Amino acid sequence: MSKSVPEPWRIKMIEPIRMTTKAQRKKALIEAGLNPFILKSEDVFIDLLTDSGTGAMSDRQWANILLGDESYAGSKSYYQLSQAVNEIFDFQYTIPVHQGRGAEQILFPVLVELAKEKGASDPVFLSNHHFDTTKAHVELAGARANNFICSSSLQTEIADDWKGNFDLNELSNEIKNNLKNIVAIIITVTCNSVGGQPVSMDNIRSAARMARDAGIPVIIDAARFAENAYFIKQRDHAFFHETIPNIVKEMFSEADIFTMSAKKDGMVNIGGLCCFRNNESLFKQVQLRCVPMEGFVTYGGLAGRDMAAMAVGLQEALEEDHLHSRITQVEYLGHKLQQAGIPIQTPVGGHAVFVDARKIFPDIKPENFPAQVLCNALYLESGVRATEIGSLMMGRNPITGQQEPALFELMRLTIPRRTYTDNHMNYVADSLIEVVKKADTLKPLEFEYESKILRQFTARFREIER
Ligand code: F0G
Repeated sequence: MSKSVPEPWRIKMIEPIRMTTKAQRKKALIEAGLNPFILKSEDVFIDLLTDSGTGAMSDRQWANILLGDESYAGSKSYYQLSQAVNEIFDFQYTIPVHQGRGAEQILFPVLVELAKEKGASDPVFLSNHHFDTTKAHVELAGARANNFICSSSLQTEIADDWKGNFDLNELSNEIKNNLKNIVAIIITVTCNSVGGQPVSMDNIRSAARMARDAGIPVIIDAARFAENAYFIKQRDHAFFHETIPNIVKEMFSEADIFTMSAKKDGMVNIGGLCCFRNNESLFKQVQLRCVPMEGFVTYGGLAGRDMAAMAVGLQEALEEDHLHSRITQVEYLGHKLQQAGIPIQTPVGGHAVFVDARKIFPDIKPENFPAQVLCNALYLESGVRATEIGSLMMGRNPITGQQEPALFELMRLTIPRRTYTDNHMNYVADSLIEVVKKADTLKPLEFEYESKILRQFTARFREIER
């Protein structure tokens, strides 16, 4: 008998959510230009758009919020946060920021300038996979973003424990052939863009050491650091008996810098971090950019209470009961879909189930956005909101202006932390199974309006015949 995994919490406060009728959803979706990003949240029943800032905080976090110190400079809450960073990651220097992209915007231009001073003429960041805002900030800083993801991640039906890994051969070739232009390597844990897939400890070590031997700074994009550590404990024999805090320390011992959207594993509604192991001079240069961009160096765009919530959230993220229950819930949804024959990225990722829309609609072209078609149909059927990770999100080739096919056409069912129950997951699975039965009747999309950058958030669509 398989043992069920009860949540390691009980519910102290509830937030009502509203079920709508199909007619109401149809009207709302048409008004939103067939783009779920434009829907009002009150028209959504179960919101699986993102796990970012949408989780529930604990009573301990809310209690610490009341103790938040709102001093403009030198807030007690800042020192509490930087002590938590020091304890968990062994990093000396902490800059709070308003969210992950805040860290990217203050750090990347400084690193690009340093690389140029050393002779880079065509600066480039190397990553297993850049998240989309990360890529945007690399490009805004005047550099290019290259991905070196392993090939198994592209085949959703193949089970591989470490689909977030770098292709180390390709990475090593790039380091050999283009050393002078490389600004930094970014290890994204878990790797959101290929399905919330973990990076193995061996791969983190090898990639980081290759970079370090060549004098290249190593950054961890730490949004989902604890989920990655949990997968290492589950899947790597060498770590079966290790604690999550020790695994996290070991992962981060390979990095010089980390950026973090604390809205994920940091378990807060808003906040982020930009931290340095021991490079005081770099820390000071980045602090200088923090002041005009994010705010004074001990608050970085956050209220004292936000930092107080984060200091507790980072500790709670490491609790194994929490990680076990969370990842089991994501797996539960994934397995229900698999049992019904729905193609998903396998194994199931840490924060979301990624449904392979290319396999569901083999005849819908990338430029007619199969995963967006699926998101819309799911919303109409059930009020569940998901998000597209595919050709729509990837955008056009910046040089040719052409829409090229993305690596995947995925619909992401993203599960916020400590927020929904398995009953909600049952409803999501049942609804999607109904939608997929009707796949032949669903219509492809084309743009009615397309903005030049980050178009997925504002685009409007019309349906076309198949
Ligand atoms: N890095 C990763 C891996 C992310 O997933 C995100 C955000 C960021 C950086 C940027 O952080 O939003 O706090 O500025 N991901 C969200 C998502 C938006 O839905 O996956 P941010």
